[in-house]
Amino acid sequence: MAVESGVSLRTFNTFGLPAVAKSLVRIRSDADVRRLLAHPEFGRAPKFVLGGGSNLVFTRDVQSLVLKVEVPGKRIVEVRTDAVIVEFGAGESWHDAVMWTLSHGFGGLENMALIPGTVGAAPVQNIGAYGLELKDRFDSLDAVDLVTGRTVTLSAPQCHFGYRDSVFKQPASDGGLAGKSVITRVRLRLPLPWLPTLGYLDLQRRMDETGNHTPTPMEIADWVIAIRRAKLPDPAVIGNAGSFFKNPVVSEAQCRDIIARDPHLVHYAMPDGSFKLAAGWLIDACGWKGKSIGGAGVYEKQALVLVNRGSATGGEVVTLARAIQESVYGRFGIRLEPEPVVI
Ligand code: EPU
Repeated sequence: MAVESGVSLRTFNTFGLPAVAKSLVRIRSDADVRRLLAHPEFGRAPKFVLGGGSNLVFTRDVQSLVLKVEVPGKRIVEVRTDAVIVEFGAGESWHDAVMWTLSHGFGGLENMALIPGTVGAAPVQNIGAYGLELKDRFDSLDAVDLVTGRTVTLSAPQCHFGYRDSVFKQPASDGGLAGKSVITRVRLRLPLPWLPTLGYLDLQRRMDETGNHTPTPMEIADWVIAIRRAKLPDPAVIGNAGSFFKNPVVSEAQCRDIIARDPHLVHYAMPDGSFKLAAGWLIDACGWKGKSIGGAGVYEKQALVLVNRGSATGGEVVTLARAIQESVYGRFGIRLEPEPVVI
């Protein structure tokens, strides 16, 4: 087990923010975690689990031992009559995993193509896009407990999935598992027969434009990739962490109240009678699109995405985020909740 010291984390977070890990160890298997826990110096040290770094804002160097999850593996576990079960090592790229299932002829993940990050990070924030969330395709996952070194298997109900949320984001004081375990493998359930998920407006538009109303899984993936490329910055070119805030959910009364003043408010009715508002629209309406504080900016094509204009620090990203929260609260009375984890 090699522990590296003074490792730059700039290329390990999609925002490209500067930070240094005092010490870092690469985890390629469950046994690696157990070896680490038995280590005389590092076994009991505070630990920080790093996946693809696509949902992180580093505002400082990391003193805890960084566990960089690099568990490899892609396999078909089982082909049943009602579903295909596939398994991925937590260190695999999410997008590569999606494309791998499609190249094997299995649909089900196409709406979530091109989401940055690793497979292991996907359940942590229950990633989602274009009408599907990870929880809709989740079977189970394996995680190693960071105290006992035991591997446990968790089912969907045990993961407590919510909108961009799971038990892995919730602190131990609330019964959560944040910082308590390392996810090493994730199994996904791709239902058979495959049925497309085409309700999202951007996909409806593609169907109308192309005249193709019976797309294949691969065609849907191509549409999703094109839609994402048109409005979301590629983290390899412009540092970012995807949507910076969650879309807020408000009561019908509050939604009506805002519409009375701002008739163009983008809102979606939820099954329980509440309304989800497009945070990007709220931020845009406050005039933030294209604005910057230091090296941190609001993306020109999607106001919900904060970007690194090249030299941003995590502090500048946080300052910009707070300024946006204040102006959205001032105008709409809504508190935007950040999606990424701030370190
Ligand atoms: N809008 C504006 N101005 C903007 C941005 C958005 O007016 O600058 C309005 C538009 O009317 C647009 C609507 O807001 O139609 C919704 O925008 P979009 O379709 O881009 O979706 P979103 O609600 O901003 C969510 C997810 C994305 C996911 C897309 C597609 C959250 C926080 N974000 O964004 O997920 O890709 O839907 O399903 O739920 C992520 O979580 O990192 C992420 C990128």
